[in-house]
Amino acid sequence: MAYESLEVMITAEQIKEKIRELAEEISIDYKEKNPLLIGVLKGAVVFLSDLIREIDMPLEVDFMAVSSYGADTASSGIVRIQKDLDQSIKGKDVLIVEDIVDTGLTLSYLFQNLNSRQPNSINVVALLDKPDRRKVKFEADYCGFKIPDRFVIGYGLDFNENYRNLKDICILNT
Ligand code: PRP
Repeated sequence: MAYESLEVMITAEQIKEKIRELAEEISIDYKEKNPLLIGVLKGAVVFLSDLIREIDMPLEVDFMAVSSYGADTASSGIVRIQKDLDQSIKGKDVLIVEDIVDTGLTLSYLFQNLNSRQPNSINVVALLDKPDRRKVKFEADYCGFKIPDRFVIGYGLDFNENYRNLKDICILNT
């Protein structure tokens, strides 16, 4: 399969550098807290796997699958849990790991849902943020890149389940 309609927005090297910065901040803020990082499937898998290897302290990992989109690029506004956590988060210091905040619907739902399970603290790290697309007020506590409203794929982000394996974050010109 050829990738001729792609335009690089953020290079693998820029992502790497940003993850080092985020990991440093997180390491300081969560020192001696043994945080639970919750990856939101599937998009956040690549980001989470690189992020945790830059955080040099004990931590735990779990996953949730939440779906807000169908096989389309537009948000349906419907959020549903497809896979829940394997464990209770009561009393834990939770850090939700997301690839992108777009309309904000997924994270505002997830944040409220997880917050109701009585964690000790709960924060969000998102690699990408598209503020122009917001439908509900939501800000990640740690944010990698604020990007314009273009359809981006790669580094975990997909279009119809393709392109997640790209090392760079690219604009898909359809
Ligand atoms: C993407 C992304 C976020 C959500 C953000 O997931 O990973 O979870 O959309 O969009 P929002 O702010 O408009 O809610 P998607 O539902 O595409 O699933 P995927 O991670 O499996 O690709």
